[in-house]
Parts: sequence; structure tokens; C-alpha cells
Amino acid sequence: MSNEARKPIISGNWKMNHNHFEAIQCVQKLAYLLTKDDFAAVDVTIHPPFTDLRSVQTLIDADELKFILGAQHCHEVDSGAFTGEISAMFLAKLNVSYVIVGHSERREIFGETDESIHNKIVAIQKSKMTPILCVGETLAEREAGTTYEKVLGQLRSALEKRTAEQIKSMVIAYEPIWAIGTGKTATADDAQRVVSAIREEISKISSANVASAVRLQYGGSVKASNIAEIMAQPDIDGVLVGGASLDAAEFARICQYRLKKQD
Ligand code: PGA
Repeated sequence: MSNEARKPIISGNWKMNHNHFEAIQCVQKLAYLLTKDDFAAVDVTIHPPFTDLRSVQTLIDADELKFILGAQHCHEVDSGAFTGEISAMFLAKLNVSYVIVGHSERREIFGETDESIHNKIVAIQKSKMTPILCVGETLAEREAGTTYEKVLGQLRSALEKRTAEQIKSMVIAYEPIWAIGTGKTATADDAQRVVSAIREEISKISSANVASAVRLQYGGSVKASNIAEIMAQPDIDGVLVGGASLDAAEFARICQYRLKKQD
């Protein structure tokens, strides 16, 4: 499906990297490297660790930067006895606009379930922020031929009882787990096939209109050298970048994929 109407969205998921001093430096470098035209062409969201959010928010406000502030995770309830957790409401107060939910590291290391991920999406949208829902299969599932079953199952569970408007406004990232942080990328064709199946499924869950509006990302070992090929796919509207987003120069080249042939 052609992606002309959907603004590309490039997201930097810093994971547990960069303290708040390093975060400020990285955002300042990025701001220096990116131009007004870049921000007109792509939405750039940055997802630092919780302890950096206030510093990055202050920098974005003070210098009127065009980065969109994101978070990596939140809890599903508003407040209460949940030691160590952060609610969606708190993030919204910091002008966070996008929250990653259901990242495979959260699912696998921290035991997040489809049900808790669904509840987090409800909480994020209640606070008027945009979820970036991650779905993806393990290497074993891929080899067993169950990629679609796994990915579309995660999708159906996450989108359950969400309205057309709510689904339309979401971002969904296809992140094959075997490609995350491994240097292995799904081939662009392969990524396109799964991403287009996600769009197809959304048209069944909701409508063709919603499916053609929702922005879909690919994630897993994206770098400046492979971004152009990935973004050339008709159903891929953006990327979720881990490792390569930590380096301002590399991430800037990713955000500028449209300008030149990447090395
Ligand atoms: P990676 O991570 O780019 O380091 O593979 C992607 C992600 O986990 O979102």
C-alpha cells in the first residue's frame, strides 16, 4: 500500500543508555546536524531513560527544538503502591508524546503479557499520548513458520476494543526479535511482507481506511547503511532504532535517509 499520505516517523530507543548529561549532549549534537527540512520531512521521536526525560524536555522547550519526546515504558495504572513504576499520567505531564509499549525486551526480560500491554495502551491513550506498539517473533518461531500467527496474535490482543480513531493514531513497530541488537536485519522484502500483513490485519480488525492511515515501523539493527532500502518499502513508514540511535552522527544520517545514498 502506498505510503504517500503517511508522514515518516523515525524513533530512537536509547534503552538503558545515556545518563542525563550524555542525553543533553546527544540531543544538542543531533539538533545541530538536523535541519528544518528534515523535521518537515520526518517526525523524529527520542526515547531516553526516565531519569533523562526532564532534562531533555527542558532542552527541547528552551531551544524550541523539533524533536518529539518519547518514553520507553510506563505502568498501566495512574498511581498507587507500585514501587519503581512510572504512570502514563506522569509522562504526559513531562510533555511526553510517544510511549513504546510491548518492546520484546519488556516482554521477555520483565514478563509483560499481552494483557498488560493492552492495559498500557489504554492508559497511554487516556493520557492523550501515542503508543508505539512493538510486535515480533523469535528466531525459533520464525524457523517453525509461525511468524504471522505470533505477530498478528500480539496485534489483535493489543488492539482489542480500541476505536477506529484510537487505532488510527497509533504507531506499530514490527521488530523481529532475532534482528534486535544482533546486526542481523530482516531483508527489506521480508520486513515489507510482515508489515503489509499487519496492515491487512488492521483492515480486518477495523477498516481499510484505518489501515491505510496507521503508521508502521520496522525495527532491528537499522543503521545509516540499510535505512534507505527499508524506507523504500511501500508499507514501512518509519523505523525504531536502538543501538544506532545512541550516536548523534549516525542517527542524523538515518533521519536524513531521503537526502543521499548512504554509505
Ligand atoms: P537495535 O534495537 O536497533 O539495536 O537492533 C531496536 C529496538 O530494540 O528497538
